[in-house]
Amino acid sequence: MIIKAPGTYNHSLMVANMAEAACKEIGANHMLARVGGYYHDIGKIPDSGMYIENKITDKRARTLGPTEYARLIISHVSNGVRIAEKDGLPESIIDFIKKHHGESTMTYFYHQALEQSDQATAAEKIRKRDFQYPGPKPSTQEVAVVMLADAIEAASRSLQEPTAEKLKGLVSKIVYNKLNEGELENANLTMSDLKKVQRAFLRILNGIYHTRIEYPTKSEVEYLENRVLGKDDDDEDY
Ligand SMILES: [Fe+2]
Ligand SMILES: [Fe+2]
Repeated sequence: MIIKAPGTYNHSLMVANMAEAACKEIGANHMLARVGGYYHDIGKIPDSGMYIENKITDKRARTLGPTEYARLIISHVSNGVRIAEKDGLPESIIDFIKKHHGESTMTYFYHQALEQSDQATAAEKIRKRDFQYPGPKPSTQEVAVVMLADAIEAASRSLQEPTAEKLKGLVSKIVYNKLNEGELENANLTMSDLKKVQRAFLRILNGIYHTRIEYPTKSEVEYLENRVLGKDDDDEDY
């Protein structure tokens, strides 16, 4: 995976770390969650160039319509199960591969398809279920935590200048959405568990993004020097 799908590999390590930390907090099997995180996206290896985290290098990405593209991405779940079964992975790990997207909808492609379609005929041509993962929904705490870590890690990559405040908002929005969409209904997580899970995720995310703070430019430093210390532009004592 590190060679064929390096972005997915990085993502999987992050998901594993986040899921492990969260499962420790709620007394779930954290080692199982960690390993589930490692394997959850192995189905992306065959078409790795079609996924945003690997930089899209596959030429098909430019020609596929939203329905076909969504179908290909959804197939990473069944591909993953196939690879795992072929390689003899245990059922407890296959469970993560099979259920980490639950029955969620690929909103991006669904929206794109609706937009592109002629409004008069949209209803008959576009079916929401073509943009939905087949499920089932997570049925253990560990898989549900990986589902949340997965969605949050992926979304955190698109945050512009991630601050602690923005990360906190993102984490609670995604947990709320999954809860609201019913994806967590079989997972045996209490509200208090979910609070602990969110805190653990934030601890990890803040640790990662903290190290990526941008340094101020030379002109930004000079501007403040002039204002605060009353230096003029000719001083060159830095
Ligand atoms: Fe996935
Ligand atoms: Fe993932």
